[in-house]
Amino acid sequence: MANELMRFSVAMPEDLLIRFDRLVSRRGLAKNRSEVVRDLVRDALVEEECSMPGIEVMGTLTIIFDHHASDLQEKLHTIQHDYFDNIVSSMHVHVDAHTCLEVIVLRGETGLVQDIANLILGTKGVQNGKLVVTTTGRMA
Ligand code: NI
Repeated sequence: MANELMRFSVAMPEDLLIRFDRLVSRRGLAKNRSEVVRDLVRDALVEEECSMPGIEVMGTLTIIFDHHASDLQEKLHTIQHDYFDNIVSSMHVHVDAHTCLEVIVLRGETGLVQDIANLILGTKGVQNGKLVVTTTGRMA
């Protein structure tokens, strides 16, 4: 029952369908229109679920910073210890002589994961960053 496919048809303006078919072809030979529509629906559902309070999410926060920036690494380290319950792992990459990249994996209630990410992103010296959130499908 869970994996039974239900059919429905979609009316779409021609220009939108042409653009959609370009997206389908960019996704490669293994994907057809139906599979890409299913992917997009799943993306939308995950995005909506991740914005609801009380849901447990996993987040990956990628940041770029200059390791010469004064006491920045110490501050980032302190934040990660303060939230050790919610920070699953982190990876540090030395990009070049000055620049560091860090990927921090977070887990917890939607709002808390966003708050920790904002704390890190708002730390002086963090040049750029982005949080990507996905759901575990469980309540926090
Ligand atoms: Ni480094």
